Amino acid sequence: MTQQPRGEWFSDEAFWIETYSFMFPPERFDDAVADIEKIIGLVQFTGTSVLDLCCGPGRFSVPLAKRGLAVTGVDQTEFLLDKARERAGSEQVTVEWIRADMREFRRPERFELALSLFTSFGYFDRKEEDIAVLKNIHASLKPGGTLVIDVAGKEILAKNYHSTNAHDLPDGSKIVECHQITDGWSRIRNEWIVLRKGQAKHFEFELTIYSGQELKDRLESVGFRDVNLYGNFDGDEYGLDAKRLIAVGRK
Ligand SMILES: C[S@@+](CC[C@H](N)C(=O)[O-])C[C@H]1O[C@@H](n2cnc3c(N)ncnc32)[C@H](O)[C@@H]1O
Repeated sequence: MTQQPRGEWFSDEAFWIETYSFMFPPERFDDAVADIEKIIGLVQFTGTSVLDLCCGPGRFSVPLAKRGLAVTGVDQTEFLLDKARERAGSEQVTVEWIRADMREFRRPERFELALSLFTSFGYFDRKEEDIAVLKNIHASLKPGGTLVIDVAGKEILAKNYHSTNAHDLPDGSKIVECHQITDGWSRIRNEWIVLRKGQAKHFEFELTIYSGQELKDRLESVGFRDVNLYGNFDGDEYGLDAKRLIAVGRK
């Protein structure tokens, strides 16, 4: 079995390459087009400048740019930025792509909307690093600007928890996901085994899991106000039927 190199898991490009077809199947790009319309309605966005932080393959950046918005997509994985560039090229839109670590990227008072979507937050071992990311986003927003964060909420994980899940992928490969809740329900430790062409590749990664209240407190602690929580992009409450934990805050 191939083992993951040591270091921060999210900096291992092989992880994003090997899991690409599972994480970003074509229907997920279609979902993003619909979600962008919902997000714009949910936050009543009337501005022009958008930061798509951890933009990955541009699922959200490209449809935003197609709407005529000025979009900056930031990500640290070159493989995914290449996919994003390709997509923007084939859709004939311009996006500013920047390779950077979310702990470092900051452009003072540049954007009216900042997005952190599809569990792109909570990657770091130290809570100070998550806070640094939120401070960067806050600094990068214009006064009155809006942040939308979308993660898998702790309450949702607790309700639907399975320690193991397996998925068949269209190319015949399989992904087995094993999960463990650690640190008193603060973190989730994941092991993913990708079985492809007779080879098993093994990846381990950990995320901080936020409850609705914890995420709200974090946002408020760096200066966001009017923080509201939702259970989907339609704006339904973050309650028992929530599919995602979505926090919206204003600078
Ligand atoms: C689950 S994907 C979500 C991608 C995109 N938001 C979407 O919804 O399709 C998480 C993204 O975070 C990026 N990422 C992980 N760690 C990062 C870091 N420290 N700084 C910047 N980007 C990072 C990954 O490269 C990946 O594109």
